[in-house]
Amino acid sequence: MKTAKRIGWILLIVFIGMQLYRPAKNVASGEHTAVFLSETNPPQEVKLILETTCYDCHSNNTVYPWYNNIAPVSYWLADHINEGKEHLNFSDWENYTSKKKEHKLEELVEEVEEGEMPLEEYTWTHEEARLNPKQKEMIMVWANKSRVLYQLGPLPQ
Ligand code: HEC
Repeated sequence: MKTAKRIGWILLIVFIGMQLYRPAKNVASGEHTAVFLSETNPPQEVKLILETTCYDCHSNNTVYPWYNNIAPVSYWLADHINEGKEHLNFSDWENYTSKKKEHKLEELVEEVEEGEMPLEEYTWTHEEARLNPKQKEMIMVWANKSRVLYQLGPLPQ
């Protein structure tokens, strides 16, 4: 019994200690995805879906839930965001080559078609992020259209 109590205290202290470290937040203001939006020109509905179901992990601005204030949840979310952005960052679109943009859109179509994105864990707390077949279709049509533009290369001036 004494040992259990001691372990309990140690865990509590570790938990409190963890709260002292807060991962840097992923926040940006203004039109951080302006280049992406103007180049790929998504219809309003698609734009809204991307903003509400993808930007949290694939842009420079995350809308954080309240529980992000609690470690280790905050570490876990920061991890997802960093990894997501490494693979695809809509806020960094201007630094991608046309070839890379085309390829990212190809992967986007695949991920959405197979229901791999948004991540399953994300939909546990973001009910509205579960994409229905119609939403998936709209995203795929738009992404495939944009891919063609990048395949064609820059337009003659
Ligand atoms: C909770 C965080 C999160 C959300 C929300 C999310 N993603 Fe991801 N995404 C990731 C992570 C992490 C990876 C990298 C690991 C993997 O592929 O599972 C990734 C990978 C990808 C890739 C693969 C890119 C590559 O180069 O391999 C695409 C494409 C993608 N996501 C598109 C989307 C789209 C589209 C949405 C919205 C419908 C979305 N993601 C929502 C976290 C997220």
